[in-house]
Amino acid sequence: PVPIIIDCDPGHDDALAIMLAAGDPAVDLLAVTTVAGNQTLEKTTLNARRVLTLAGVTDVPVAAGCDRPLLQPLAVAADVHGESGLDGPSFPPPTVDVVPEHAVDLIHRILVEHPEPVTLVPTAPLTNIALLLTRHPESAAHIREIVLMGGSVGPGNRTPAAEFNVYTDPEAAAVVFGSGVPVTMCGLDVTHQALATPEVLARFEALGTPIGSVCVELLTYFASAYRRLWGMPHPPLHDPVAVARVIDPAIVGCADANVVVELQGRYTRGATVVDLHQYVGRPVNARVGTTLDTELFWDRMVGAVAALGSR
Ligand code: BDR
Ligand code: CA
Repeated sequence: PVPIIIDCDPGHDDALAIMLAAGDPAVDLLAVTTVAGNQTLEKTTLNARRVLTLAGVTDVPVAAGCDRPLLQPLAVAADVHGESGLDGPSFPPPTVDVVPEHAVDLIHRILVEHPEPVTLVPTAPLTNIALLLTRHPESAAHIREIVLMGGSVGPGNRTPAAEFNVYTDPEAAAVVFGSGVPVTMCGLDVTHQALATPEVLARFEALGTPIGSVCVELLTYFASAYRRLWGMPHPPLHDPVAVARVIDPAIVGCADANVVVELQGRYTRGATVVDLHQYVGRPVNARVGTTLDTELFWDRMVGAVAALGSR
């Protein structure tokens, strides 16, 4: 299995990304680290512990990282994910603890100690990852790849131009795309193909397990938010797409491109400018997701939750 670390801000879709990574045999989840984003760091960390407890995963360390973006104040997404960051289901009190180490230090230590290069899967603002690359530049050599959920070739979802994870900490995203580490960007173009339809919800329900029912409750809440805010009948399950790309690269079709983050645009700050057609001749620095094999994706997602339920 591919060794990975998930850096997240749960978040409904982050919760399912954690489940996919914990339940699928193609990846070895080494740690879950948290950052401020969808909600405050305190809440996203509690939520990561809740999800791992529910999933029966007690052997994966959880560490809390940065509580705000590098330069700008935090603006959470309570409108999408609720006051708790994971509104909808009720969770039993978490039994999984947080390790007494900053997320950036934990990631650094794992990278240096692990016998093979590790894939980082950020599904949140890139604050922790930017800090890691800035504070420990030598750690880049231990990263196999950064496969992130964030950005968009087309329109944004936080502003007309910018996607939430990049918009929340644009300077951090600029550090990551400029780092020279191989980056795969799973942006809105591909995550908006991962729609949690009623058929998908029925598959989770049919598992007949507590964790399957929590997935239904999470996705039902997420669906109501997407209907209310975007008029979309089915919510896109963004974050698991990045995990799925690591599990089986065939699930997410990618194209090579130069990607830069707009930091100054008067109306476009936080936009990812993706040069799929090599207009400007800047070197390729990313693979950018363009197509999703939805059947393979949902089979893996439901299969992982099924595996966790049978533990
Ligand atoms: C991203 O923003 C967050 O609200 C989701 O968890 C996902 O990571 C989608 O733009
Ligand atoms: Ca997220």
